[in-house]
Amino acid sequence: MQLFFIGHILIRKYNEATLIECLPIFYKTIFMKKQLVNLLLLMATSAVVFTISSCSKSSPGVAPVTPTDLCAGKTIVITPVATDANACGGNGQIKVTATGSTGFTYKLNSGGTYQADDSFGNVAAGSYTVFAKDKDGCEKSVAATVGSTGTAGPLFTAVKNLMAAKCQSCHNNTVQNGGMNWEIECNIVTNSDRIKVRAVDLGTMPQSGPLSQTEKNIISDWIAAGGGFAN
Ligand code: HEC
Repeated sequence: MQLFFIGHILIRKYNEATLIECLPIFYKTIFMKKQLVNLLLLMATSAVVFTISSCSKSSPGVAPVTPTDLCAGKTIVITPVATDANACGGNGQIKVTATGSTGFTYKLNSGGTYQADDSFGNVAAGSYTVFAKDKDGCEKSVAATVGSTGTAGPLFTAVKNLMAAKCQSCHNNTVQNGGMNWEIECNIVTNSDRIKVRAVDLGTMPQSGPLSQTEKNIISDWIAAGGGFAN
């Protein structure tokens, strides 16, 4: 590295990059191209008097913008405790504890909205980033995972099997009449209300003719128990 002083300007030359900075009182850092530096050096060795406006004593210069560290001197620890969601359901929970400061608000993921409540309900299984911000605006985040109680319940399994036999021929990965695909388990959970309307209440599905009362009961029993994946 080469160092040059021109007036109160310090020039540090690296291989390609050249850093030009004013000496301490006038904080200003500029990266410049080689040619310009060479010109400045020429000027320095000549008798020409010059100033760089932002560095000159007659100019106030640009005050250094030092970002304030809102977290200075704090050790904030965020501890999220996640409660599993039913598979295909959004009933998980994340409860957050934050220590190391006061006046915390919390949010889930960067797109979330800060809230004073430290618990989040109706959270679907998945990965989240939990944020906590203290009274001064110090913000920290930590990852949290809401698991899934992944075992299909017996009532759901009975409905799934019934629909595989009676409904899937017209609602599968290839053919999706009415936009419905019953090969995807969670679609059965998500559309439980429509399944009940069409196959139990109206009896208009399957198209070939209504289900027997016993078959309708399989759907009704599951929905009465909660209509979830784990039921
Ligand atoms: C022979 C083909 C066939 C079978 C079998 C069949 N469907 Fe359908 N389904 C259709 C067609 C065609 C549509 C779109 C027209 C309509 O909505 O009536 C549809 C649409 C639907 C819709 C979406 C429309 C709405 O009302 O929300 C649901 C839900 C549905 N079916 C449920 C079922 C269920 C449950 C079964 C089994 C008990 C079943 N279907 C069996 C052909 C079928």
